[in-house]
Amino acid sequence: MSDYKFIDHTYDVVVVGAGGSGLRAALGAAQAGLKTACITKVFPTRSHTVAAQGGIAASLGNMGPDSWQWHMYDTVKGSDWLGDQDAIEYLAREAPQAVYELEHWGMPFSRNEDGKIYQRPFGGHTTEMGQGPPVQRTCAAADRTGHAMLHTLYGQCVKNDTEFFIEYFALDLIMDDEGVCRGVTAWKLDDGTLHRFRAQKVILATGGYGRAFFSCTSAHTCTGDGNAMVLRAGLPLQDMEFIQFHPTGIYGAGCLITEGARGEGGYLTNSEGERFMERYAPSVKDLAPRDMVSRSMTIEIREGRGVGENKDHIFLHLEHLPAETLAARLPGISETAKVFSGVDVTREPIPVLPTVHYNMGGIPTNYHGEVLTKKDGDPDAVVPGLMAVGEAACVSVHGANRLGSNSLIDLVVFGRAAGLRCGDTLEAGASQPSIAEAQTEAHIARFDRIRNADGDHSIADLRLEMQRAMQENCAVFRTGEVLDEGVEKIDAVQKKASGMRVDDRGMIWNTDLMEALEFDNLIGQAAVTVNSAANRKESRGAHAREDFDKRDDENWMKHTLAWANDAGEVTIDYRPVHNYTMSNEIEYIKPKERVY
Ligand code: FUM
Repeated sequence: MSDYKFIDHTYDVVVVGAGGSGLRAALGAAQAGLKTACITKVFPTRSHTVAAQGGIAASLGNMGPDSWQWHMYDTVKGSDWLGDQDAIEYLAREAPQAVYELEHWGMPFSRNEDGKIYQRPFGGHTTEMGQGPPVQRTCAAADRTGHAMLHTLYGQCVKNDTEFFIEYFALDLIMDDEGVCRGVTAWKLDDGTLHRFRAQKVILATGGYGRAFFSCTSAHTCTGDGNAMVLRAGLPLQDMEFIQFHPTGIYGAGCLITEGARGEGGYLTNSEGERFMERYAPSVKDLAPRDMVSRSMTIEIREGRGVGENKDHIFLHLEHLPAETLAARLPGISETAKVFSGVDVTREPIPVLPTVHYNMGGIPTNYHGEVLTKKDGDPDAVVPGLMAVGEAACVSVHGANRLGSNSLIDLVVFGRAAGLRCGDTLEAGASQPSIAEAQTEAHIARFDRIRNADGDHSIADLRLEMQRAMQENCAVFRTGEVLDEGVEKIDAVQKKASGMRVDDRGMIWNTDLMEALEFDNLIGQAAVTVNSAANRKESRGAHAREDFDKRDDENWMKHTLAWANDAGEVTIDYRPVHNYTMSNEIEYIKPKERVY
């Protein structure tokens, strides 16, 4: 073990992850004059944000009346009243400015007839504080909005001298005895060297952990590495039971077909050719929020009205739309449908199925991006030196269910907020304490243990067993019995994992070792997810319990906090939901039944 040597680096700010939130945070820190590094396991423009399709929500009002208050109302209702209303106010208020900023940096948005940014309808976005019809709020660059955004932000980061460490796999947080984050360690994939990054602030922007499930729209890289580092640092994750299933993943392949397809006029049918969403959400129909559409599709399939030979999926129709609309607004998914399901969208429906898409839960933060923990009775205690943004974070603006297109806006609004916070609180070049060997011993020990693992179980087998358990036991509909079985299955995989096998002992481009480290990250998150789900005895947003089928505000309007120890044992506690707004320009939005 003593053979491992670190190469040292010192920065004011180190961002881990180069998706939309990481790049926006890095840009903000660099613009504030702070020496900023961004370390990333893939080339920045290959980060998973590149796959975001339908758009970014902001109340620009380019296609009709809209306001940030309406956006806030829809987000609170969409969250099923688990979102923190101070943070949601911040998101909705700052959204237009964050989009104009992207436009001014050259992001190639689609345009309406007036030459303004084109906006399309998306599920759960409405007018008049939920009383009016759907609104066109989702700003789009055709159906490749994330791609356009990521390239725009990367260009700005390069222009502003952010230093990139590309194909570096982050290992663990460097924490001192007082619980202050002092930096992060990383393994450089292409030459096998190990690196120690010291920083005044580490910002985790490491994305979600969709790959804990068998079928997801997430890239293979979405292994929640930052979430896992937080667990290993003895800090909690929040609201991990809330997993978003996107209604329209391609049947069999899992690839995303954007909700923008329904925004442009697409609709779902069952085996009887019925537009069944009219029964479940009479006012907004196919533009209901994702949790509701996914549940409705699942009910149709369960009741024998699925389509196909096995009656196990649903049809998404676009063939009635003008070919020019499909070419201009939905070119990407037209191609994806052809490649992955052989469907020509101008002639036939796409076979679709709800597919894991997004993690509402993650690292608890306030709206500045500062990581929170519960300490000495304070549920909002800030962890010094550590921030989190994007899907890795749980601010919480999405609560129990995120509205489509609120993800991209979350990335840039809170990425920007984190950069601003760094600018406001840090002094460029301020001296930093040196890092003691003891502070990274556990990092090396874990790395070396996994590198030399010589048990009987291949990573591929362990991963598959975990993914199947999560898919079957932590699904759209849940019961106590099925979740308890899930807890046992994940526990069994964790026990087996002590007998994992890594065949390649090298340090250079060792993808066998990288997959083992990623699996080790995923399994801890799977454990807190299924335990948190078994623990929450109510139905709220994406957490639909058949044995507790009502929302229970009296007992459960609170955030779950979950810690996990090395043996995979999960401890649960709670934080109150922020039932206050940020300003007095809008009142707290009181809970009511969530119908559309
Ligand atoms: O359907 C979509 O285009 C996905 C958007 C989102 O998750 O926000």
